[in-house]
Amino acid sequence: MISDATHRLVSGLFVVEDRGAQALKGVERPLQLYRVLRPSGMRGRFAAAAARMTPFVGREDELRLLLNRWERVREGEGQVVTIIGEAGIGKSRLVQRFQQEIAATPYTWLECATAPFFQNTPFYAVADMLQQTFHWHTNQNSERRLAALEASLALVAGVDLSEVVPLIAPLLELPIGDKYPLSSLAPDQQRKRLLATLVAWTIGFAKAQPLVMATEDLHWADPSTLELHQLLVEQSATAPLMLLCTARPEFRPQWPLRAHHTQITLNRLSARNVRTMVGDVAAQKALSEETIATVVERTSGVPLFVEELTRAVLESGNAKLSGHEIPVTLHDSLMARLDRLGPAKEVIQVGAVIGGEFSFDLLHAAHPIAEEDLQRALHSLADADLLYVRGIAPDAIYQFKHALIRDAAYEALLKSRRKELHSLVARTIDERLTALKEAHPEVLARHWTEAGETERAIAEWSKAGKAAYARNAFGEALESYQRAVALVSMLPESPERDLRELELRDLVVIMLYVTKGYAAPETVDDVARFAALAKKSGNLPHLVRSVFRRGFTAFISGDLPVAGTLADEALALAQREGSPHDLAGAHGLQIWVRYWRGDLGGVEEHFVNGLKFFDDPSYRQTRGGGAIPGFAYASWSAWTLGRKKVAHKREAQMMAAVTANDPYDIAYSEALAARLRGYMREYKQAEALAARALELSEKHEFPYPTALARCVLGQARAQLGNATEGIDLIRKGIAGLLEIGSRFGISNYMAYLAEAQECEGSIADALETVERALQVNPDELLYRPETLRIRGALRLKQGNTDLAKADFRDAIALAQKMSAKAWELRAAISLARLLRDTGRRDEARTMLAEIYKWFTEGFDTADLRDAKALLEELSINGGER
Ligand SMILES: Nc1ncnc2c1ncn2[C@@H]1O[C@H](COP(=O)(O)OP(=O)(O)OP(=O)(O)O)[C@@H](O)[C@H]1O
Ligand SMILES: [Mg+2]
Repeated sequence: MISDATHRLVSGLFVVEDRGAQALKGVERPLQLYRVLRPSGMRGRFAAAAARMTPFVGREDELRLLLNRWERVREGEGQVVTIIGEAGIGKSRLVQRFQQEIAATPYTWLECATAPFFQNTPFYAVADMLQQTFHWHTNQNSERRLAALEASLALVAGVDLSEVVPLIAPLLELPIGDKYPLSSLAPDQQRKRLLATLVAWTIGFAKAQPLVMATEDLHWADPSTLELHQLLVEQSATAPLMLLCTARPEFRPQWPLRAHHTQITLNRLSARNVRTMVGDVAAQKALSEETIATVVERTSGVPLFVEELTRAVLESGNAKLSGHEIPVTLHDSLMARLDRLGPAKEVIQVGAVIGGEFSFDLLHAAHPIAEEDLQRALHSLADADLLYVRGIAPDAIYQFKHALIRDAAYEALLKSRRKELHSLVARTIDERLTALKEAHPEVLARHWTEAGETERAIAEWSKAGKAAYARNAFGEALESYQRAVALVSMLPESPERDLRELELRDLVVIMLYVTKGYAAPETVDDVARFAALAKKSGNLPHLVRSVFRRGFTAFISGDLPVAGTLADEALALAQREGSPHDLAGAHGLQIWVRYWRGDLGGVEEHFVNGLKFFDDPSYRQTRGGGAIPGFAYASWSAWTLGRKKVAHKREAQMMAAVTANDPYDIAYSEALAARLRGYMREYKQAEALAARALELSEKHEFPYPTALARCVLGQARAQLGNATEGIDLIRKGIAGLLEIGSRFGISNYMAYLAEAQECEGSIADALETVERALQVNPDELLYRPETLRIRGALRLKQGNTDLAKADFRDAIALAQKMSAKAWELRAAISLARLLRDTGRRDEARTMLAEIYKWFTEGFDTADLRDAKALLEELSINGGER
C-alpha cells in the first residue's frame, strides 16, 4: 500500500501532474496518482536537442520488449534491462524513446549518467542522480537542503538519520556542521551502510510509484556507482523498479544473468530506415540518388554516422557528390566537418580538451579570444549540431552531441598543442575555479597528467586519493594512488623519488587491504613490490614495514613457516631501526605466529621483550593488530602453559588497552576474552562475553570480530547443552573467516565444531570433522594435542579402545613437547579414565598424579578439579583389581 505521507513527499520533491484518483490493481481504495514530470530523462543532451532530433526510426522489436518489461515492473516485478551496442548505434535514443512511450503511465524517472572524465570520481553518477531527486533551486540554502534530505531519508528509506546523514551529505556537498556525531563504524562498514541506504532509498521511491532508474554508459561508471548498481540488480526483483542501463560492448557485467534480466543488443538499422533518416536530415535539400545510395552503403546502419555523413555531404554544398568525394569512415566524416568550421574548429578543440562538457567561462579562459567571436563560434557549433547548449552565455554549459565528436575534435589536435591546452585548462582550474578544484582534484589531476606536468599531476592524484578515502570510496582512492605511483615511477632515479614512491605504494597497499583483503593475490603482489622498492632504497622504516606486511599477509593466510621467517626478519630490522611502534609490531607478529605454531616458549620470550613497546600510542591505536591481540595471545599462552593467574593478569592488561567507547576495541577484546574462558571450560562466562561481542560486532559490521565471536559463542552454547545452535554458529563463524581470507586458527575452530557435533551425538560427523581439523594446516600445532584428545574420545565412543589410547598418548607426548600443561592434563585425564576402565588403575593413578603435581595454581579450574576427583577415586578404591 502506498502511504499518503510518501505521496506527499514524492509530490513535494518533484514537479508532478495530478492524474486524479484512480483504481489500482490490488489496492483497496482509489489512489491519487501523479505523473512525475521532473526530474525526467529530458535533462540530458536530448533535452537540449529535442526540437532538432532526427525523427525516430525502426527499433520496433526492442521497444516492444521494453514495454513488455515495463508492464511487469508495474505489476511489482523488478526488471533489469541492459542495452548493449557500439558507439552511436542508438542506445541513448532508444532509452529516450522508451520514456516517451511510457509517458501515459505514472512513473518516476531518475537518470544516472556516467562520464569518461569522471571514472575516478566516487559516486559521480549517483551524486548527480541524487541532486535530481531534490531539484534544488540555486537560492536554497544548505539548511533547507539538509532538511529536505533528512525528510526524504526518514520517509523513503526509513533509516536512522544519525547514522546515514553524515554519510550521504558529502555526496551532495552539503555541510552538516556538528549536528551529527562522527560515525563509529569502521570505514569499510560506513561504505556498506551508505550503499545499503542508497538501495533502500531507491527501492523506497519505487514503492511510491513505479521507478525507472536509467544508468547510461556503464562502461564509464566509477567503481562506487557500479557497486550500487550491482546491489540494486541483486535486490530489486520484488520492487516496481526498472534498472535500465546502456553500455558499449566492452562492458562486462559482474552479475549473473537471472530470469528478470534482459539484454538487448542493438543491431544496425536497416537500409530502409537509413534512407528515411537521410531524407529527414537532409530535410528539404534534395540529394542525388547516387549520393544517398553511397551514404546508405557507407554508414552501414549506424545512425550517428548516418546523421554525420549526411550533414558532411550537405555542408559541402554539393548535392551530387560522387563516391570518392564522400568520407569513408565516421572519423573521416567528422574530420571533414570540423575542417569546414573555420575559427570554430579551434573552439571545439579547446572544448574537447576540457571534456565532454564545458562551461563558457572555462572555455573562454583557456581560449582567450574576444567574447563576441567566441559566442559566434559556439553558435555555429550548436547550429551544426555538434554541441548542445544549456543556459545562456556567459553562464552557459556546452555538451558535445556525442562522445565520438569530442574524440574526433581532440584527436585532430597536434600532440604538442594538446599538451599546451591541457596545461592552460589546468592552470585556469587551479587559479580560478577553486570550487571545482576542491571538489574534484581528479579532474585537475587528469589535466596536469596530459599536460605532462608530472609533479603537479602527482600532487593532485595524491589529493584525489585522499579525498576519495575520506569519503570511504576505497576503489577510487586506490585508482588515484595507483596513477600517482605510475607517474612517480617515471621521474628520474633518485633516493627522494624512491621515498615518494614508497609513501604512495604504502597507501596503495592499505587501500588493497580494504578493497581486496589482506591475502588477495593483488595485495600480495603489491606488498611484494613495496618490499622490493623498500629493499632497493634501503630506507629502514619502510623496509621494516614492508617485511612486517609480508609477514602479516602470510600469517593471515595461515602460512606460518613463511610468516615466522618474516617475523624474524622484521624484528631484526626493527631492532636496527629502534622505533617503538615497529618493535611492538614485530614482537606482536612473533607472538601470534609462535602461538599458532605451538612455540609457547617463544610467545613468552617475545611478550616479555615486546611488552615495553606495547604502550606506544600509535601501536595501541592500530586496529585489529595492536596491543589488544598481543595481550590476548599472551594470556592464552600463559593458560596453556598452566599458569592461570598469569593468564588473568594479561587479560586484565588487554582490557586496560581498550579505548573506552570504541566499539571495535570492545567487541574484539570481549571475543578474545571469551576464548580464554572457553579454553578454561568456563562456558557460562564465555557465552556472556561472546554474545556481547557478537551483538556489538554485528551492529557495527566488523567482519573479523563477528566471525571470531560466532566460533567462540558456538563452542560455549554447544557445551552448555545447545549443540544444534552451537554447530550453526561455528559453521557461520568459519565461513565468515574464510570469506575475508583469514585462515589462521582454522584448525582450532574445526576442532570446536567436532566437539559440538559430539555434543549433538553425531559421532560419525564429528570424526570426519576432527580429521579435517588435523589436516587443514599441519603447521598449526597449538590446538593439535586437544584435537587428538577429541579424536581419541570419539574413537572410544565407537569402541576403538586401542586407537583411542594411541590418540591420548600422542596428545600427551605432543603437549609435553610444547610444555602445554593444560592440554597435557586434559589428555592425561582422558587416558587415566580409559586405563581405569580397562583394569589398569595403578598406571592411571601414577600417570595422572605426575602431571597433577606439577600445578601450583588454578586449582579451581574444571580440569584440575576433575583430575583431583579422579585421583581420589583411584586411590580410595586402591590397588589393581
Ligand atoms: N532509431 C533512431 N532513429 C533516429 N535517430 C537515431 C536512432 N537511433 C539513434 N539515432 C541518432 O543517432 C545518434 C546517436 O545515437 P545515440 O546517441 O543514442 O547512440 P549511443 O548508442 O547512445 O552511443 P554512445 O555509445 O556513444 O552513447 C543520435 O543523434 C540519435 O538521435
Ligand atoms: Mg549513449
